[in-house]
Amino acid sequence: MMKYWIVIAGLIAGPAFGQDKSFTLSAPDSMTANGFLKHLLPRFSLKSGIRISISEPSDASFGTKGVPVFQDGATVWHFSKTDGPYTDAFLDWLTSDVGKNTIAAFKVDDVAVYDPDVQQQKAVVENELTGDVVLGEKVSLSLCGRCHVVNDTNRMKAIGSSPSFALLRGFPDWQNRFEAFFVLKPHPAFTQVEDVTEPFPDHLPSPMSPIEVTLEQIEAITAYVGSIEPADLGAPLAAN
Ligand code: HEC
Repeated sequence: MMKYWIVIAGLIAGPAFGQDKSFTLSAPDSMTANGFLKHLLPRFSLKSGIRISISEPSDASFGTKGVPVFQDGATVWHFSKTDGPYTDAFLDWLTSDVGKNTIAAFKVDDVAVYDPDVQQQKAVVENELTGDVVLGEKVSLSLCGRCHVVNDTNRMKAIGSSPSFALLRGFPDWQNRFEAFFVLKPHPAFTQVEDVTEPFPDHLPSPMSPIEVTLEQIEAITAYVGSIEPADLGAPLAAN
């Protein structure tokens, strides 16, 4: 009779205590220091019953290798792991809607730190660039080309202190920068976007001949920039 009780107790206790549902994780110190891991890991453990402890060497890590899982400015963090049901479950969760929302909800001083939409970034860029590339090149040359090198045709007419479009295209977040260029310095001082920006205040007229641009033209510029080769940041940028 005793024997059966032990078997039953074992069955009941099994999932909770019989096997240790856990794995070890290593991560950059910054993720511990800013509180991100304290935010992320317990939320996963609560759902899954899988415990994650920080240690090195580890079964899994956030670093430069593996699957891109979130982005912090220009830095893309990857997740790499050994095979196993628990590390697999964590990766599934990180890339699920719930996991992504959890990542996006982490804030320092009310500002989100990690953007979980890193995997789709490339696809989104390709899908969303619906602007007219030909129009975009024309508008870029006429409105932006007096400062920026847009392409070879205006190389000699631009101002050296403005980054070339090919250089800007090399930034991971180039699309954001172009879509919002009119709020990024130095442009607000001389740029008007139809239906978007306020007119220049009377006492503060544009210091130079202003640019007037429509949202459709900005979309076209962005599509055009998407079509150009990014400058190789490792190579010299001087004209050859
Ligand atoms: C009067 C000169 C001038 C004109 C015209 C101009 N820009 Fe710029 N732009 C600059 C300068 C200078 C910078 C560099 C600012 C810096 O590095 O802080 C810049 C930077 C940028 C950046 C990067 C901004 C950032 O902070 O990452 C983008 C994108 C950009 N310009 C797009 C455009 C587009 C699109 C047009 C035309 C519709 C345009 N610019 C017209 C001078 C100009």
